[in-house]
Amino acid sequence: MPNPIAALESVSRHFHEGGREHRVLDKVDLEIAAGERLALLGASGSGKSTLLNLLGGIDRPDQGRVLVEATDLAGLSEHRRTLFRRRRIGFVYQFFNLIPTLTVRENVALPLELLGQALDPADALLEQVGLADRGDAFPDVLSGGEQQRVALARALAHRPALVLADEPTGNLDARHGRAVLDLLAALTREQGTTLVIVTHSRAVSGYCERVLSLEDGRLTQGGGAEW
Ligand SMILES: Nc1ncnc2c1ncn2[C@@H]1O[C@H](COP(=O)(O)OP(=O)(O)O)[C@@H](O)[C@H]1O
Ligand SMILES: [Mg+2]
Repeated sequence: MPNPIAALESVSRHFHEGGREHRVLDKVDLEIAAGERLALLGASGSGKSTLLNLLGGIDRPDQGRVLVEATDLAGLSEHRRTLFRRRRIGFVYQFFNLIPTLTVRENVALPLELLGQALDPADALLEQVGLADRGDAFPDVLSGGEQQRVALARALAHRPALVLADEPTGNLDARHGRAVLDLLAALTREQGTTLVIVTHSRAVSGYCERVLSLEDGRLTQGGGAEW
């Protein structure tokens, strides 16, 4: 693949569990093209969140390199990884992770505020996710689907290179989940943002160019037998 925007090179990650070693990722190789939408499937506990956290610089591998825009995150200090993450990564979580003491608009503006940038994109994004009239509300008065739309706006506000979505529809019913996937695909397409999404939604293959599965510490093409 010429000029991947992100890559894992022979990445391993293990944890200790009850005195024995659990190898969650075993020399995983992955290249992600700029602008690609990639879905990642796998049973619970197969290491999907671990992989996303490595790509996002939240976690560090035991071995191997994690490249995002040619920066090796594995080689950065925690402080530098945090600064890199703020600029170049957007995260979306299953349970939204909005800050309850900030308004909807303040939540979306937070990534821009941390970077010392103008806050105008926050209002434009709230408009795009259909919540322009809820900017002054606090997250707890919004429905789950609305909260996740706020989280999408926040993930994209600073125009990251890479958006990492960890089961973003896992806490929504089918209809609202579908609306969130529609929006995520539309926004990343419009911004040209690369997306890696972990989801159990079968609709995802309609949104992503590539589907990979994680099993026994390795990545394989396609959705596997369960698909
Ligand atoms: N910080 C951690 N400490 C110990 N074990 C962990 C840690 N993070 C993940 N694990 C273990 O690694 C495995 C994969 O976890 P995870 O990546 O969360 O899987 P998934 O997201 O696919 O459900 C699980 O067995 C989990 O218990
Ligand atoms: Mg997970």
